[in-house]
Amino acid sequence: MYFETHAHYDDKAFDADRRDLLAALPASGVDTIINPGCDLSSSSLARTLAEEFPYVYFAAGIHPEELSDLPADWLSQISRIADSPKCVAIGEVGLDYYWDVSKKDLQKQVFEAQLDLALTMDLPVIIHDRDAHGDCFEIISRHRENRGVFHCYSGSAEMASELLRLGWYLGFDGPITYKNARKAVEVLTITPLDRILIETDSPYLSPVPMRGKRNDSGNLRYIVEKIAEVKEISPEEVASATSQNAKTLFRIA
Ligand code: NI
Repeated sequence: MYFETHAHYDDKAFDADRRDLLAALPASGVDTIINPGCDLSSSSLARTLAEEFPYVYFAAGIHPEELSDLPADWLSQISRIADSPKCVAIGEVGLDYYWDVSKKDLQKQVFEAQLDLALTMDLPVIIHDRDAHGDCFEIISRHRENRGVFHCYSGSAEMASELLRLGWYLGFDGPITYKNARKAVEVLTITPLDRILIETDSPYLSPVPMRGKRNDSGNLRYIVEKIAEVKEISPEEVASATSQNAKTLFRIA
C-alpha cells in the first residue's frame, strides 16, 4: 500500500468527483493521503475532507503564489484551521520565483512566519521551493529547529546532501519519470531510502505514461516503480519504506 504525502483534492479539478475518487483510493492501493492547503479556503476544505475520511490527513498553510488578498489576521486563521487532530503539518509554504519575483520580501516574511508557527504548534513543514533554492536554503539554515519535507525537490544534488544532513526529507513526484529527469534521478540516487517520500502533487505533474491527464494518487505506482529501478530494489520495498518514513515524519500511528 502507498502513502501519498502530497495531493490537492481540494483543487477545483476535483469538483465533479472528489469524494467518489477519495472513497475509491484504498482499492487502488493508496491507504493514507496528506492534502496540503495553499490558502485559507483550500486549507479549510482540506480539513473538511480529512475529517470526513479516516485515511486522509491535511496540512494548513499559505502557498507563496497565494499572497494577494491576504487578510491582516491570516496567521491566526491558519493556526485555527491547523488546530485539528487531523492536521499533520504546516504547508505548503515556501518560495516561488518562477512566475513572480516582485513579492520576494513578502514571500520570505510569510514563509518565515509559518516556519515559526510550525515550531509553536510542534508540527513539521511541507516546503514548496521553485526557482528559489538559494533563498530557501538560507532561510532553512537560520531555522535549524524546523523539520519536514522539501516537496517535489528540484534543487541540486549538493543542496540535497546539505538538507539530508540537516535532517530533512525529500519528496519525489511524477517528474522523476520524465525523459529529461537527469538531475532528479541524480538526487534520488544520493537520497537514502529512509528519507524518501512519495507524492503525486495531484491534480498536477502526472507521471509517464499518464502525462497530460489529470493526476491522482492511484498513479503513485509509476513513481514507486521508478524509485525501485533507480535504487535496484523491489517496488514493495519502496512502498513500505516510504510509508514508514511518512508515518515517522508526520507522526501517524
Ligand atoms: Ni502542491
